[in-house]
Amino acid sequence: MTAFPCKPALLLTLVALTGFAASPARAQSTVADGEKLAFDRGKGNCLTCHVIRGGDLPGTIGPELKDIKTKYPDRNELVAILFDETKRNPQTMMPPFGRNRLLTDQEISAIVDFLQTL
Ligand code: HEC
Repeated sequence: MTAFPCKPALLLTLVALTGFAASPARAQSTVADGEKLAFDRGKGNCLTCHVIRGGDLPGTIGPELKDIKTKYPDRNELVAILFDETKRNPQTMMPPFGRNRLLTDQEISAIVDFLQTL
């Protein structure tokens, strides 16, 4: 009985430690997930408009996506572009994936992880 008050704290520590240990593997898999989403014609469909390394039959309506980390060192900028590029450029052809709920925040985050490897 006396040990009971300590349990939640112990559990929290365990959860935190497990999450910490798992994070490198998770980072790896979000890059893979992001690539899949970006190439998926029913999801990101980025290849319709962008040349992306490793992607088949790209279109050229938008610029080639490369050296992304140099161009956009701040990942929040990329999230903003994916969420709603019309904010930067009202005339853009690029769909506002976040605003239109074509992609969830989590999917956008995975795609940004992938973009940062290009
Ligand atoms: C219908 C065409 C279209 C689709 C689909 C599209 N884009 Fe774009 N994208 C563009 C255009 C055009 C631009 C050029 C900037 C502008 O129009 O504001 C652009 C710009 C960008 C930029 C900035 C590039 C730079 O060099 O500054 C990024 C990053 C980007 N798109 C990522 C994506 C990703 C990731 C997807 C898929 C989830 C995607 N785009 C889907 C048309 C598209």
